Amino acid sequence: MLKNLLVKARDARWMWDLFGPIYNQQIYNALFELYEHIAEEINLDGPSKILDVGAGRGYITLLLAARRPTASLTGIDFSATQVRAAERLRKRRGIENCRFELGNAMHLPFADNRFNAVVSVGSIKHWPDPKQGVAEMRRVLAPGRWAVISETDSETSGKALRRFMQRFTAWYFWDPLLFWGLRHIIFGHSFSQQEIVTFARAAGFGEIRTQKLPTCPYVIVKAQK
Ligand SMILES: C[S@@+](CC[C@H](N)C(=O)[O-])C[C@H]1O[C@@H](n2cnc3c(N)ncnc32)[C@H](O)[C@@H]1O
Repeated sequence: MLKNLLVKARDARWMWDLFGPIYNQQIYNALFELYEHIAEEINLDGPSKILDVGAGRGYITLLLAARRPTASLTGIDFSATQVRAAERLRKRRGIENCRFELGNAMHLPFADNRFNAVVSVGSIKHWPDPKQGVAEMRRVLAPGRWAVISETDSETSGKALRRFMQRFTAWYFWDPLLFWGLRHIIFGHSFSQQEIVTFARAAGFGEIRTQKLPTCPYVIVKAQK
């Protein structure tokens, strides 16, 4: 009962509006290897359009924008607080080939086949219908192009979670509570690699590849339209 309520709260827009800044402050150090890895996976040359769904403060969006100056990046998020935070970071870094807008992963506000790559990190477990969200990612992707979906791995062991936890440094995280929350609310109500592959297959993606990083308990699924 309590767990279900907390999972509902975890996925609510008001939660991201209120507590997004705390997540943003902690997550970059925890996930920088994953962001770097995914930025390398999106190896597009020349002018291209790239979409980040559930962009948060835009860490991966801005990394891609900085690495690929000829690309045009769009980050969407359903939380206005998150969109504003991303926009502030974009301005502070002086990045011009990137924009952030409000939007819901369930109904992406873009035409079919519009993007040359679509990425989403840590967002699909929050979507009310992840299958529909993955199908939306495929819809806006141009034929032959790749989507990269990464999410907390529900099969992460307690030992790996404890290692990951060491990356969260704020004084207000009390270890036993943080471990319980990560185990039962974040990772426990997420997806396995196989489940995300199943979403991608159901959405109609063709070739599907999976990856994992030794230091980061996230699933990475790369799927081609
Ligand atoms: C765990 S954060 C990940 C943010 C970012 N991708 C990162 O790696 O730092 C999840 C983000 O997904 C957004 N989100 C959740 N549900 C969404 C939905 N249905 N449509 C769009 N964004 C959503 C939240 O507002 C939040 O910013």
